[in-house]
Amino acid sequence: MGETLKIAVVGLGNRGPQHLCTIVGIPDRYRLVGICDMVPEKLQAAADRFGAPGFSNAEEMMDRARPDLVVFTVSHRDLSNLVKLAADRKIHVATETPIAATLPVADLLIETARRGNIKLENFEQCWRWPREQLKRRVLTSGVLGEMVQARCYTYIAPYHATGVFLKMVGSHVRQVVGYGRELRICPQQKTGSPYASTRKWVIGALEFENGVSGVFEMKVRQPYISGHDFSNCAADCTQGHILHEEVYIAKDAARPKAGGAHQERGNLVHYPIQEGWEEIQGRRILTKVWIDTDPEISWENPYRQYAPEPVYPGGDDYGRLEEYISYHRAIVEDTAPEYGVAEARHNIEVMIAAAHSARLGSQTLTLPLDPKVEMSFW
Ligand SMILES: NC(=O)c1ccc[n+]([C@@H]2O[C@H](COP(=O)([O-])OP(=O)(O)OC[C@H]3O[C@@H](n4cnc5c(N)ncnc54)[C@H](O)[C@@H]3O)[C@@H](O)[C@H]2O)c1
Repeated sequence: MGETLKIAVVGLGNRGPQHLCTIVGIPDRYRLVGICDMVPEKLQAAADRFGAPGFSNAEEMMDRARPDLVVFTVSHRDLSNLVKLAADRKIHVATETPIAATLPVADLLIETARRGNIKLENFEQCWRWPREQLKRRVLTSGVLGEMVQARCYTYIAPYHATGVFLKMVGSHVRQVVGYGRELRICPQQKTGSPYASTRKWVIGALEFENGVSGVFEMKVRQPYISGHDFSNCAADCTQGHILHEEVYIAKDAARPKAGGAHQERGNLVHYPIQEGWEEIQGRRILTKVWIDTDPEISWENPYRQYAPEPVYPGGDDYGRLEEYISYHRAIVEDTAPEYGVAEARHNIEVMIAAAHSARLGSQTLTLPLDPKVEMSFW
């Protein structure tokens, strides 16, 4: 595992303190040397809670605290200048999601990091959720046969859903046909936001490089309806399906575990995803997810010795933990970041391509998209 890295965080609004809970929970890998926000109340609250040196100016923090790595939990709109400041000082960077709203801005960040010879990672965590990791294991185990079609439906933060979707299919998109409308909706309140009366609705018919056909549907600016998952993906395969959180496998393709959780549905067997939790350092930690095939297909938490302060217990807390451990490894071993900005860029490229095609009257677009397309996916 190696050395402990000095880390600093800029942006102490909603997301920043959630990252800090993860960081202070892995003290053998990271030492928090600075936190920064331009709003004094937010800075004071985080300094009191996490006991780190506080700064109101990011440049001053980087000069005085000299972190190895700085995490920018600020809006993507505020990233360009901050990434340049870090690159000029040879400080590695991690950004929150999305990496950018347009391709030219994503390319500017990537080029800034390349010129500064620093690492740049986008902390997209949803594909790291244990249930998503399990679903990919089910797919790659072969019990479902070959994937033929995949679907993704998203209400909010479509880049999270796209991240999960692209990892599930295990391939990049090569062709997109989009269709979109601005729709009136039933106004619903999102805490702290005005009532929305319209939303953008975009569908993309996708061809993946591995031959899978896909459908992607996003409803941007849709107020969040509590309790609805925002990454509903499905995969139709030659020997069964994954439908959101449920796995269906053809009877003759896998054997159910005796006494396990499963139910026959015609020529398929339904395997609900099981979760195992353990009490570790007084906190409930998700340690295993699996389906009751024989042999079972499972994912086990390799970092159960860490029990950071819970934010969203289970999947999301684990996702954040894994991205910090993964990026620590990339920096210490000087390897490429595991998710990578190319993946983060392709994520928004797919959404932009669908919206751009819709605007062009459903013109078929071949990827890579012209990097000069200024359109935002929002
Ligand atoms: N991955 C996820 O699940 C997830 C969840 C929530 C938010 N996010 C992302 O995290 C980022 C932050 O979101 P948020 O909801 O915390 O926003 P926020 O507005 O609540 O917080 C951002 C903070 O950054 C500070 N800030 C901005 N520029 C600064 C600068 N140059 N120097 C010092 N402070 C600066 C602001 O004062 C503010 O307090 C966004 O990119 C958002 O999309 C991701």
